[in-house]
Amino acid sequence: MKKLILALLIIPIVLALVNCSKVSTPQSERDHFVDSLMSKMTMDEKIGQLTLYTSDWSVTGPTLNPNYEKDVKSGKCGNIFNALTVKYITKLQKIAVEETRLGIPLLFGYDVIHGYKTTFPIPLAEACTWDMDIIEKSAHYSAMEASASGLNWTFSPMVDIARDPRWGRIAEGSGEDTYLGCLIAAAKVHGYQGKNLDDPFTIAACVKHYAAYGAPQAGRDYSTVDMSDRVLRETYLPSYKAAVDAGVATVMCSFNELNGVPATANEYLMNKILREEWGFKGFVVTDYTGIPEMIKHGYSVDEKQAGELALSAGTDMDMQGGVFSKYLKKSLEEGKINKKQINMSVRRILNLKYELGLFKNPYLYLDEKREQETVFSKEIMDHALLSAKKSIVLLKNEPFKGQKLLPMSKTVKNIAIIGPLADNQEDMLGTWYGAGDKTKVTTLINGLKNKFPQANIQYAKGADFEGNDKSGFDAAINIANKSDIVICAIGENDGQSGEAGSRSDIGLPGVQQELMEELVKTGKPIIAVVLAGRPLTIEWLTKNVNAILFAGHLGTRSGDAIAEVLCGDYNPSAKLVITFPRSVGQIPIFYASKNTGRPFEANNRFTSKYLDIANEPLFPFGYGLSYTQFEYSNLKLNTKTIHDSDTLKITVTLKNTGQFDGEEIAQLYIRDLIGSVTRPVKELKGFNKVFLKAGEQKEIEFAITAKDLRFYDVNMQFKSEPGQFKVFVGGNSVDLIEDGFELL
Ligand code: BGC
Repeated sequence: MKKLILALLIIPIVLALVNCSKVSTPQSERDHFVDSLMSKMTMDEKIGQLTLYTSDWSVTGPTLNPNYEKDVKSGKCGNIFNALTVKYITKLQKIAVEETRLGIPLLFGYDVIHGYKTTFPIPLAEACTWDMDIIEKSAHYSAMEASASGLNWTFSPMVDIARDPRWGRIAEGSGEDTYLGCLIAAAKVHGYQGKNLDDPFTIAACVKHYAAYGAPQAGRDYSTVDMSDRVLRETYLPSYKAAVDAGVATVMCSFNELNGVPATANEYLMNKILREEWGFKGFVVTDYTGIPEMIKHGYSVDEKQAGELALSAGTDMDMQGGVFSKYLKKSLEEGKINKKQINMSVRRILNLKYELGLFKNPYLYLDEKREQETVFSKEIMDHALLSAKKSIVLLKNEPFKGQKLLPMSKTVKNIAIIGPLADNQEDMLGTWYGAGDKTKVTTLINGLKNKFPQANIQYAKGADFEGNDKSGFDAAINIANKSDIVICAIGENDGQSGEAGSRSDIGLPGVQQELMEELVKTGKPIIAVVLAGRPLTIEWLTKNVNAILFAGHLGTRSGDAIAEVLCGDYNPSAKLVITFPRSVGQIPIFYASKNTGRPFEANNRFTSKYLDIANEPLFPFGYGLSYTQFEYSNLKLNTKTIHDSDTLKITVTLKNTGQFDGEEIAQLYIRDLIGSVTRPVKELKGFNKVFLKAGEQKEIEFAITAKDLRFYDVNMQFKSEPGQFKVFVGGNSVDLIEDGFELL
């Protein structure tokens, strides 16, 4: 009771501090407020602000602290994640605000990765839209729903560049390319955070996992990363920097070690690059138990030392480790860390609470009525459909008996729909769907029924995602035999990618491959809809079925979106953001590789190639078909030589030569032919998403300046070098038309 009275006395002081500041800029108002608050805080209260615990709603690791509510009350824990619903969050916020001495509100974090309740496509799939507007809106709607449910902080965007599809978390990122990865990182930060963090419809973002988490050895999650500074800075760091430049409020450090030092205590990454070079002003949170894990890494002798190393390297908040809470005061008394370090971290965290408007109104995000009105609203569900259909990549569409299978004729009579994803709600949501609600998902069967109401649709599961059970094959073959067309919804379930979801064999899991072999024997026309959190090695499928759609996992509106594409109401426009290997043996395989001194020559053994498989991928980066065809011609450069300050204008004529209206993603690549260090054979430098009616043509334009040609030279200076460049334009990273220019 005493505490309650004290808190009630202090809240007005806190609110008065917020309101009465005479300082003109909001930042100095904030600083003034945080200064005053910090001057009243004990060391224990400060350390409490550096502590983040999970509630027991939904967790991604061990719940180390079942007493988190008590710790909130005693001020030992200043931030909570995985607490859901306005009702429960209000309960916790009340404890913090009304029952602690200073009434400092809590941050409420959650993994809102691809939607909160309404689930959008997994990030890898949505990236295939190459559509920044769609991607930004998905983040915006995710923030609207999450903030309506009381959350104020998401652990997203995940911007780890990844080139090894064995790694399950490839599903959570934007693929292999740095240029595209940067644009997507920025779009997501803008989408989540909007213009003002204290707008109750926005939430703070957290870019993760800093750094290079997407390059673990052998594609095994949490594994070691060892790479040159050049590759780190050129390929892996820019997407995090793009998020920082877009104003991301927080950064999460990764589980992996980088060149021998765990990211959680990596001074080079945090103090040097993130803060000194990039000027990041927000706070850094560890990943789940990242601090105590440094003992197993072989980097610190015990938890206390791990905490000291993490704080000193620039980590501010301890997620779920409990280490700062247990040991930081002792470390301070022993002189292993100093007050200045703690104060700096506390300030960064309080700054965010201030910017979120929590000191003015700790209950800003807590309104049960808004929660009910917002989640699954029509506007958000409509966007989920738009995003899902724009994420579907058409990989193959060959004629069957002289006729293309896709789009399907709306008068088709007998459809067989087969596979473990055909009548499935949960797995369609994809990895890390968090609070998503599987009961709201349209299955593929229901999507088809809506689009083909007159058809007789027969379903058989056929096979599962795991195990050797073939008892469902007969039923599947039976309905296939009776049908005019077979649609197979095959691939991975939601747990076969994502965190700790690495696979060494990335073919169709379980007995799905065998099932497909049996179905092909029926001689019926087959469309495979492949749903997975990663590229799969589906060379056999590619050769043996008539049409293939790759759909990632598409979220709440999955079935509607796929059906719209199948029936031609939507003409697919997405392009792969990740290379599809033929076999695991080709990994890592990505388009921006180097040429080597012995590039591939078919008839020369002593060139860079395999004896048993082609060098080329199954499907290259940037690849994706449409129901119509596009032709590129007339590539023109406005000049053949540019100086440092010039702009090179590149134009090309794009014509829709087919029968359908459609959208094309025209891509621009360059190659720097000779450098002080060698350069990739192709680098994406721009793209243009263009809608053309059947028969229509347009001149499209790209621009390049010397700035776009910069790289880390032999002395690690980021600059462009004079010399010859090639420029390529086309519909994927292989089928291109080219010209050249010189940088003087
Ligand atoms: C994941 C993070 C996630 C965190 C909190 C960890 O296991 O690596 O991406 O944000 O859990 O749920």
